[in-house]
Amino acid sequence: MGLRFKYNIVLVLACVLGIVAATGMSYWIVQESAVQDVEREINLLRANATAVRSYTLNSIDPLLSDDNDILFLPETITSYAARTVFSIFRQQFPQYSYKEAALNPTNPADLPNELETSLIEQFRADPALDQLSAIVEDNGERFLTVAFPVTINQPGCLRCHGNPEFAPPAMVDLYGSENGFGWELGETVGAQIISAPMSLVDERAQETSIILSSALVAAFIIVLIATNIMLSRIVLRPVARMSQVAEQVSLGDFSIPEYAKPGRDEISSLSKSFNRMRRSLESAMKMIDE
Ligand code: HEC
Repeated sequence: MGLRFKYNIVLVLACVLGIVAATGMSYWIVQESAVQDVEREINLLRANATAVRSYTLNSIDPLLSDDNDILFLPETITSYAARTVFSIFRQQFPQYSYKEAALNPTNPADLPNELETSLIEQFRADPALDQLSAIVEDNGERFLTVAFPVTINQPGCLRCHGNPEFAPPAMVDLYGSENGFGWELGETVGAQIISAPMSLVDERAQETSIILSSALVAAFIIVLIATNIMLSRIVLRPVARMSQVAEQVSLGDFSIPEYAKPGRDEISSLSKSFNRMRRSLESAMKMIDE
């Protein structure tokens, strides 16, 4: 096995390992930071929903709540307003979703699915939790789902979610007296659950990895070519020349011209030492012949 072959095998192996490790790591790092970007998007959506809720509570509800005893208008309900505004937003961004799920919801549309139920249960078990997230796959697409607990902090909520006997009768007429009641002060009854698509994030992570690995492969090819040229010029060719001369001299043929590699590196000094040795050998032979 030639020196060049051994050198190239080691170099290729080391570079392939390096490129695979660097690409894998960059994919992971980009994904991590991209998940944070999607989380920020979700926090913006939540802030918007909170703004819709407080607008409904402070500006709409006082105008219409008197009518609620006769004809219940769900438009005055914060949760209804947040959901309705979001459903309009979804017409442009169908991959995003917003839900105020409750274990015992007033509106059956707010019933939690399996994942949502488990998130709500986790909030109920640990009141210190203020956010939970999960990555969900749906039809081959990945979504980041972030949940925030909904806890009954104001006694006013119990007017409509406490005992159905004291709830606005028009509301009971509309929603029935079975669901969405019996909530208690301080209880975590549900969660605000927002999902955003991860497809952009995944694409970005892939693109970055492809760019990085191409750059590394290009750098590796340049290193491979440059070091092979150097190896040839500095080591392989001079050594081949010296070995050819040594071969002839060993057969007693001193007619072959001396070879001295120019420069001051180890191979140059070896070629000069070899020439001195050859001259000594030549004069020793001559002395014997005489
Ligand atoms: C005037 C009556 C009323 C009051 C007061 C009220 N809600 Fe509701 N709430 C409703 C109705 C009606 C719905 C169902 C709206 C819909 O159709 O989406 C609802 C829905 C919800 C939902 C979504 C889950 C579900 O039950 O469908 C949550 C969470 C919620 N309310 C929490 C609260 C909290 C917290 C408060 C106090 C800050 C509160 N509500 C005050 C009437 C009320």
